[in-house]
Amino acid sequence: MKIDQTGLLKQNEKIQLKNATRDISSIINSYNNMIDELEKSAELLARTQREQAWQEMAKQVAHEIKNPLTPMRLTVQNFQRKFSVKDDYDKGKVAEFSEMLLEQIDTMSEVANAFSDFATLPTPKLVESDLVKITRRSLEIFDGIDVKFNSSHKEIYLQLDRTQWIRVITNLIQNGIQASKQGRVPKIEVTIIKEVKSVKIKFIDNGKGIPESIQSKVFEPKFTTKTKGMGLGLGIVKNIVNSHNGSIKYETGKKGTIFIITLSLLNQPHH
Ligand SMILES: Nc1ncnc2c1ncn2[C@@H]1O[C@H](COP(=O)(O)OP(=O)(O)OP(=O)(O)O)[C@@H](O)[C@H]1O
Ligand SMILES: [Mg+2]
Repeated sequence: MKIDQTGLLKQNEKIQLKNATRDISSIINSYNNMIDELEKSAELLARTQREQAWQEMAKQVAHEIKNPLTPMRLTVQNFQRKFSVKDDYDKGKVAEFSEMLLEQIDTMSEVANAFSDFATLPTPKLVESDLVKITRRSLEIFDGIDVKFNSSHKEIYLQLDRTQWIRVITNLIQNGIQASKQGRVPKIEVTIIKEVKSVKIKFIDNGKGIPESIQSKVFEPKFTTKTKGMGLGLGIVKNIVNSHNGSIKYETGKKGTIFIITLSLLNQPHH
């Protein structure tokens, strides 16, 4: 009867039977293995649904923020123009007021963009590009930070969206820097290794590692342990990597964390 009740979205019980014959216990064994597999699928499904729910919410938030922005901007600009004609008006105050408002509106705009980028990450515009060159270039902005770069090959060509790839790198490096232990200088290493059918890009930091209690959540949108974090970085990174048909995982411990991206080299033009 337990077999009748098995289902993907339920807590399934394993069968424990003493004195079973060899045939029966082999069936029971495979049933119990199936339960394990089922549990894994259910977990995966739940996570995907959660991520989708967040994307939906992010879209709505972005929409809500964006809606009033254009009229607000127009009103302020009108106001600015009107009062610049009247000489007896306190021009300094008006200018200050308008500037402040405009600044706030632009900040709101940026927040909205961050959300909507996450929710509707545009399908990547894949162009044949040199991964080594793009990666090395995007590391240059981390001026004054100890970032080492190595690559097994001088050039590695594959189909990439350059802008999205820069975001992946920036996010992972930023996380690495922010993870540094108190009083320690952050050290980051980026390594590209080309294998036969794939290329691996490793982001190694000397930070405090990811505690086990949060390990299942780090890729979830809006999950953050930082006071100023939005928790969107790794969600965006994962989306981009997935849309490049790649995968991302990490290894972590007391000495730091390594994020490893694997991109496929199959069906890529040869060089
Ligand atoms: N290299 C790392 N070392 C240690 N912890 C990390 C590392 N990268 C991510 N984390 C953990 O995963 C959480 C989620 O990371 P994510 O990049 O998605 O968001 P965030 O960095 O908190 O905020 P945001 O990227 O939006 O500014 C972080 O708050 C941090 O706890
Ligand atoms: Mg981050």
